[in-house]
Amino acid sequence: MRRSNLIVAEVLHALKNNVRAGVTTLDLERIAEDELSGKDAKPAFKGYRGYPWCLCTSVNNEVVHGMPSKRVLKDGDIVSIDFGVLHDGFYGDSAITVPVGAVSPDAARLVKVTEESLDKAIEAAVAGNRLLDISASVQRCVEAQGFSVVREFVGHGIGRELHEAPQVPNFGLPGRGIRLKAGMVLAIEPMINMGGPDVKILDDGWTAVTADGSLSAHFEHTVAITAEGPYVLSRL
Ligand code: MF3
Ligand code: CO
Repeated sequence: MRRSNLIVAEVLHALKNNVRAGVTTLDLERIAEDELSGKDAKPAFKGYRGYPWCLCTSVNNEVVHGMPSKRVLKDGDIVSIDFGVLHDGFYGDSAITVPVGAVSPDAARLVKVTEESLDKAIEAAVAGNRLLDISASVQRCVEAQGFSVVREFVGHGIGRELHEAPQVPNFGLPGRGIRLKAGMVLAIEPMINMGGPDVKILDDGWTAVTADGSLSAHFEHTVAITAEGPYVLSRL
């Protein structure tokens, strides 16, 4: 799973370096395809429940599952890029939110706090803790900043399937949920809105947007729980 997730990390790194005003989200999809060619890995999302792309590219008020298109990224946007692969029988899954050029101070803070909430969640991914200790860590971090946690989408176990048990919510009470054990691998993925927590799905059947039109950010890492602590498999 380290190898699968390293491929994901390398592709996301290349994508991040290509985000700038004037680039379309479809350009990012093509770059992901190019980066993947020659690597012994298949895109995990393409074909998943009929999803047609390698990437999810969610811009500004789009929360998750935005689809690559001719939409041109412009200065001040934020774009979440979510990518997964299947390599040697195992999945990797990770997401980043990238500012395009100079973004507003509030947008920058949303992106920073969302990434920090993932870091806090990872710190709680320790054998002996409970699953919702992870969830509570995210919630505490973002609500202290006045942001809100999306309820409708959650993280997940990951391994030979992209989505395995357990579901990993980004909200909940500490001390609840299953006991975490060494050997478990979780995709932890806070989706955080600047305004209210509610989302709706667009008519394309995929794109989730904030109900109030506010900005949303998303980070994801695949994390192994080991006897030595959390091992972030999708970090370079
Ligand atoms: N990282 C997301 C997830 O774990 C991406 C799934 S997109 C889909 O659910 F197209 F595959 F659904
Ligand atoms: Co995921």
